[in-house]
Amino acid sequence: MPVKRIAVLASGRGSNFQAVIDAIARGEIPASCCGLITDNAGAYAIERAKKAGIPVYIVDYGAYPVKDAYEQALCRVMKDLSADLYILAGYMRILGGGIVKHFHGQLMNIHPALLPGFPGLHAQRQALGYGVKVSGCTVHFVDEGMDSGPVIIQACVRVEEEDDEETLSARILALEHRCLPEAIRLFCEDRLIIDGRRVRILPGSATSPER
Ligand code: GAR
Repeated sequence: MPVKRIAVLASGRGSNFQAVIDAIARGEIPASCCGLITDNAGAYAIERAKKAGIPVYIVDYGAYPVKDAYEQALCRVMKDLSADLYILAGYMRILGGGIVKHFHGQLMNIHPALLPGFPGLHAQRQALGYGVKVSGCTVHFVDEGMDSGPVIIQACVRVEEEDDEETLSARILALEHRCLPEAIRLFCEDRLIIDGRRVRILPGSATSPER
């Protein structure tokens, strides 16, 4: 199977990005990472990319007078990379409609809650505030809404009596580090079909790692 080109967008720590780098290095995803794109010149994800020999593209949000100009610059970088898949791994901005339309079916996001519950910022704090007993993470394709595109994978954790935002976030993050590489692998194996709101997952071949 031809190796896919993937690019990652991240704004900060980049632990999900690291999970993807590691999964590729272990041969679990038939892909090569052609770039890290970040809106934040101080993002720790940049160190991770350098260490892995992945090219870094900084599109500094603060350097543009209006959001439109930033989006145009971002779109140019994304087009130049010509990746098969762009992964939002802790990318903390909403992508503009132009980018979402252009890259339809090629944008994947990870969110630290069971969508459609608790979209947007501080999802774990929202979940605790609501008092849910179960939370988790969602990997989904990106559409024009906020955290609203078709769901690829979800996984859940129990919310314990003694949980605070930090402990719940840490347990969800451990799940994210499994779910994101898994969703990328399915994409790279051409096993994801978007069918309206649903994402159908085709069965794996005899050589798939889950067999
Ligand atoms: C992750 O928990 C990710 O799900 C979340 O930001 C964190 C980034 O961590 N994303 C969102 O909340 C997007 N709505 P990381 O930089 O260590 O991967």
